[in-house]
Amino acid sequence: MKIVIVGNGRIGRAIAGGIRRARPSWPIRTLGRGDDCAAAREGEVVLLCVKPQQVRGALEGFASALQPGSLVISVAARTTLADLRAAIPACVGVVRAMPNLPVSELVGMTAFACESEPKDLERAEAVFSLLGRTLRVEERLMDAATAMNGCGPAYAYVIVEAWIDAGIKLGFSYETSRTLVAQTLLGAAASVLASKEHPAALKTAVTTPAGCTIEGLLQLEDGRIRSTIVRAVIAAAEA
Ligand SMILES: NC(=O)c1ccc[n+]([C@@H]2O[C@H](COP(=O)([O-])OP(=O)(O)OC[C@H]3O[C@@H](n4cnc5c(N)ncnc54)[C@H](OP(=O)(O)O)[C@@H]3O)[C@@H](O)[C@H]2O)c1
Repeated sequence: MKIVIVGNGRIGRAIAGGIRRARPSWPIRTLGRGDDCAAAREGEVVLLCVKPQQVRGALEGFASALQPGSLVISVAARTTLADLRAAIPACVGVVRAMPNLPVSELVGMTAFACESEPKDLERAEAVFSLLGRTLRVEERLMDAATAMNGCGPAYAYVIVEAWIDAGIKLGFSYETSRTLVAQTLLGAAASVLASKEHPAALKTAVTTPAGCTIEGLLQLEDGRIRSTIVRAVIAAAEA
């Protein structure tokens, strides 16, 4: 599959890096600002990785050059399938995707919506399933997906940063604390994905009666961690 990535910023580089890692033999061309974007005509799949306000200008530069039967996958937040379709010829497929930066480590989470063509979604999944998990959602939920998994790593990094500070306060070096925290979060996430149990049941398994975990949990509840997280994600979805 010949892939062209238009937009060589954070998410464009993360996707390119992930694909090169997962499929070293796939031809990928990355086009940044100033490059001849009409070269997107080489792509069977063209990934549009520019900011929402740059989408229209970027598509004006290459949409008419696209091969019939090729596919444009836009990762731009808030840019709807209707916005994309208005600028892309009818003979070219359109998929809206919301990945996140861990695609570079092949543990990304990508949500998709498309107009109606299952073969377009299948091609999009063929690319992004190399880079982690994928889910199809209704287009009305794509802004919510942006807040959940697109922005999500930032929320996790805030928690990781504070938790590492706690380790440093307790006497660990930064490197040791970072490993303790990151591997613990990875393990917790793996348990959630592997288990049919609700996270509350997984939490109970860690919480010995009158033990130290419940002391920590009480502090989190005093800090309103649940309502803070819910409100943070909703604020991002409505921004
Ligand atoms: N960052 C994330 O975690 C993430 C996750 C999921 C989705 N997204 C979405 O991905 C999109 C890009 O985000 P980003 O964080 O990667 O932004 P970014 O770092 O600013 O990258 C966008 C890149 O596209 C370039 N560009 C702009 N117009 C172009 C054109 N006509 N042709 C070729 N390149 C062009 C920009 O160049 P200049 O710098 O010269 O303008 C910039 O290098 C956004 O729509 C965002 O909603 C981002």
